[in-house]
Amino acid sequence: MEIKYATCGIHDYRLKIEPLGVKCSRCRVNEAVVDIKYARQKLCKDCFNEFFLNRVRRTVEKYKMFRPGERVAVAVSGGKDSVALLHALKKAFPQQDIIAIHINLGIAYYSDHLEEVVRKLASMLEVPLEVYNLKEREGYTIDDFLRTRYGRKMCSVCGIVKRNIFSRLSAEVDADVVATGHNLDDTVGTMFASFFAGDFESISRLRPVLRPLVPGQPRKIKPLITTPERENLIYVVLNQLPVQSCSCPHALGASVSYYKQILDRMEERNPNVKHQLLSVFTKKLIPMYEFYRKHEEEKEKKEEVLQTCRICGQPTSSPDGICSKCRRVMELQKVMDRPLILELSPHDAKKLIEEGAVVLDVRPVGQYSSGHIEGAVNIPRERFDNLDRDKKMKKTIREWKGRNILVYCNTGTDSYAVTVKLRNRGYRAYNLKGGIEAWKRAGFPVLQPAGSD
Ligand code: AMP
Ligand code: FES
Ligand code: ZN
Repeated sequence: MEIKYATCGIHDYRLKIEPLGVKCSRCRVNEAVVDIKYARQKLCKDCFNEFFLNRVRRTVEKYKMFRPGERVAVAVSGGKDSVALLHALKKAFPQQDIIAIHINLGIAYYSDHLEEVVRKLASMLEVPLEVYNLKEREGYTIDDFLRTRYGRKMCSVCGIVKRNIFSRLSAEVDADVVATGHNLDDTVGTMFASFFAGDFESISRLRPVLRPLVPGQPRKIKPLITTPERENLIYVVLNQLPVQSCSCPHALGASVSYYKQILDRMEERNPNVKHQLLSVFTKKLIPMYEFYRKHEEEKEKKEEVLQTCRICGQPTSSPDGICSKCRRVMELQKVMDRPLILELSPHDAKKLIEEGAVVLDVRPVGQYSSGHIEGAVNIPRERFDNLDRDKKMKKTIREWKGRNILVYCNTGTDSYAVTVKLRNRGYRAYNLKGGIEAWKRAGFPVLQPAGSD
């Protein structure tokens, strides 16, 4: 049987699907390929698909996520979760009015690839798609925030921008509901983290269904809230769906949350622990907290006053009437005319090297030894993941302070992520645009390391 691998998301999820050597626990005919430990079932492809779709159907019905006749906007990023979500909703609810929405965030070496994935998927499923191009519609990209003090907190700015646009875009397409791909692991991991921080308000926002803050807005739903992350990936691979194949450069080294790791460890002892925690949170803790909050509000006779943002019209509780997204965009606009040169053409890169720049090859060792730019030091990209904890690496790069650094890989993708990371730490790093491939196309030489032939 075919063996497939997939690399996905920010933590290089590697998956191998192969026969388990037993018959499927459901149909008892086909070879089982997926082991679902918490359900004590080993399933074949068809039975796994059925198991997956049934759970999506049950979750939608249990939490009354949408009704027949309602228009459901599915936010599809191109990552495994939302790709599985769009496909599964379409299969499980073939009569539903479904539209896909996608935001092109303008992240170099990333966003255009994601848009292509989403376009492929939507046309494969014959689902209408609305793409919101941040640069075209608002005049800036997420990368532009590298000019601001949010350079090391790109994911949080990006999240704020995305949430704001989801609300506006889903209203634009006349949707009653907007569905996102949040999975069980992410949800319980975030719940756990918020619990330890005592942030019950955040836990309450992780509910499967969020009613709109003001009338006229769509409600937000998470149909995959009961689906483990791993199963979304299995679903995508088994059904050969288009999916992202590279990671966001701003997530380089963003490690899996500490709490998600703890949950994985707990799962080894108790395969059901994530479902149990989700149930405790949604059935017990959130209702208790909501009850307490209402009581407090009544006691103090004050209710959170929501206004609409003076700039974008979205609801906000901020006293100055400007929502957190618009506040950040205003900050960005103040520095937009500052030059931000992150990449150099092969010709400009060559000049920089001749002037004594550090040349940094971030490809795996094997690729370096099959041809590199003269004088390049080879430090594979992974070594930059834990830059803040890796003392040896810290010492190595400290010596580059104040010098120009030219970073490259094959196509420019990995080296762009490393460039961004170095820039955010005050280094004068530049990415070689298009990587060593573009360098060769420009007619510049590559060398073999001394000693190799
Ligand atoms: P994240 O916050 O990146 O983990 O994404 C959570 C969910 O938001 C995804 O499962 C998608 O449903 C949605 N999403 C994230 N990024 C985008 C995007 N660029 N366009 C459309 N939907 C997105
Ligand atoms: Fe938003 Fe990476 S996708 S910062
Ligand atoms: Zn606003």
